Amino acid sequence: MSFEKVKEILNRLTEEHVVYLKQVEDFERRLDTEFSPELIDEILKFIDEKIAEHARVEEEDLDIALQEAGITDFDIDALNFGHQTLDEIIEHLKYLVEQYKKGVTTYQGKDIQKEIIKTAREFFTTLKDHFTEEEHFFFPDILKYDLERFE
Ligand SMILES: [Fe+2]
Ligand SMILES: [Fe+2]
Repeated sequence: MSFEKVKEILNRLTEEHVVYLKQVEDFERRLDTEFSPELIDEILKFIDEKIAEHARVEEEDLDIALQEAGITDFDIDALNFGHQTLDEIIEHLKYLVEQYKKGVTTYQGKDIQKEIIKTAREFFTTLKDHFTEEEHFFFPDILKYDLERFE
């Protein structure tokens, strides 16, 4: 019943937030200045590899570590609810990119490139809010369990 593993995972997740926020800033800047199919591929790769693995650690590894630490009443689903919202935006982004690569130039009467940029921005904004929520709300809530053990 060790809490160390939980803390280790939370530290890792928080460190990843910092790294990924830097990456997001760079992507946001480049969406403005150098839109290209290659940039979009790079963004999708980042989402499919880094962000997906990050979410998996939260949904699976953290859940297991909490159980192993004897914490059974933390609502992990609430923490993971934000991932669904992100997934929906990713799905839409991928659909737009697929259309764009087929040579389709509009989406619902609007320029598809602008829609891709808009959707990618929406993803990044939602991701930033999600990281903030985790760091300010969910992670401190989990860390409280450690303090309670000494009460
Ligand atoms: Fe998350
Ligand atoms: Fe996270």
